[in-house]
Amino acid sequence: MAHIVAPSILSADFGNLQQDVEMVNNSDAQWFHIDIMDGVFVPNISFGFPVLKQIQKHATKPLDVHLMIVNPDQYIKKFKEHGAEVLTVHYEACAHLHRTIQAIKTEGMKAGVALNPHTNVKLLEDVIQDIDLVCLMSVNPGFGGQSFIENTYNKVKELKEIIKRKNSNALIEIDGGVNAVTAPKLLEAGADVLVAGSYVFGSDNPIETIAGLTSLQ
Ligand code: DX5
Ligand code: ZN
Repeated sequence: MAHIVAPSILSADFGNLQQDVEMVNNSDAQWFHIDIMDGVFVPNISFGFPVLKQIQKHATKPLDVHLMIVNPDQYIKKFKEHGAEVLTVHYEACAHLHRTIQAIKTEGMKAGVALNPHTNVKLLEDVIQDIDLVCLMSVNPGFGGQSFIENTYNKVKELKEIIKRKNSNALIEIDGGVNAVTAPKLLEAGADVLVAGSYVFGSDNPIETIAGLTSLQ
């Protein structure tokens, strides 16, 4: 399968959000990556439903929603109504992860589970067959523009091995510090989805930057 590139809207210009959403629509990117932060699970607050509604209104590609929030269960339905096609919760925020995954799938969305940099991929062995996507955080969640944690390459390889052994269809998504240096090595290690925020929106020509990421082998 060719890999997927998902620009992270966190690094977009929120004063000209429609323009940046349309840029992604017109690019080679396959998904929008949307970061929701509650100021409790992570030390930052991003944006909520009114902004997501505007993104939904203009976006013509799937919304990959990454919840960095405690108690995500109470908002699953609401994210479905706001256009999420993939809904990712954090392993570290879910006491009953299996139940949460089932609830996301019952709403007709793909279920993702994100792991913080310190969380071992082996902890997913018993749910990997139920998951559509694993988001490996390659920075500590909360902010765009941080530097990539090198141990992520090992985690990708180890997770790929678990996915194969368990006959899972889960995609491996990498979130944080993806750029021209890290992306090729991540794909080689087995990554399926590359999230990129500051690398895309901080570049002179985001359309070309996205094309560069999608055309990597
Ligand atoms: C960080 C977010 C990321 C962020 C990535 O907590 O989950 O999606 O936007 O930003 P970059 O690509 O700049 O590291
Ligand atoms: Zn994210």
